[in-house]
Amino acid sequence: MTTPKQVLQRITDIGVVPVVTLGDHTLAEPLADALVGGGLPVVEITLRSPAGVPAIEVLAKRDDVLIGAGSVRSSAEATAAISAGCDFIVSPGFDSSIVDIAAGSGVLGIPGVATATELMRARNLGVDVVKFFPAEAAGGLAALRALAAAFPDVRFIPTGGISGANGRRYLDESFVVAVGGSWMIDDTALAAGDWEAITEAAAEAAHLGEGDRS
Ligand code: 3PG
Repeated sequence: MTTPKQVLQRITDIGVVPVVTLGDHTLAEPLADALVGGGLPVVEITLRSPAGVPAIEVLAKRDDVLIGAGSVRSSAEATAAISAGCDFIVSPGFDSSIVDIAAGSGVLGIPGVATATELMRARNLGVDVVKFFPAEAAGGLAALRALAAAFPDVRFIPTGGISGANGRRYLDESFVVAVGGSWMIDDTALAAGDWEAITEAAAEAAHLGEGDRS
């Protein structure tokens, strides 16, 4: 059993969390192979599609890849993702019941925040790592710097509009644990099963995540 602390450390070490919404859960295995092959042994599978939970279930059997459940918006979704065996849960926004379910199950919960009010709520529940979402649309690095200054004991995973072009600027900040995003999993490559292209993009993204953030 991996503890939430260990999961967070692995996310921090990798530095980049690939986010994907799958149309078909059978794509999960070859996608994970491509990401791991490129040096990104982590994937956040969103529950935006019905394939999300079955895909998590398939990948939870593997020990070479860390599995996150993304876009977790309700207690029911949190429970389903945890039962499917995910290592961490990511929400687009802040919901105390989801934070409680994750904590009660010994799973790392990463709620989404975009404002100081949401950060205060998260902090009051003992959360010290949050997703800053949607990072670019919510004000980008300037907004994140202002929020982080007011919450020096919170660390962030900016996600939403992150790419190879702007990811480095976020990762250079001491309060950033990792960046998340879908940019390295091209929809067309995914649909075509072009795993080589995804492995190459993952390798570039993995390079971005390199560096000491411990
Ligand atoms: C998410 O669910 O975290 C986002 O959809 C990822 O954002 P991006 O597609 O802009 O990278």
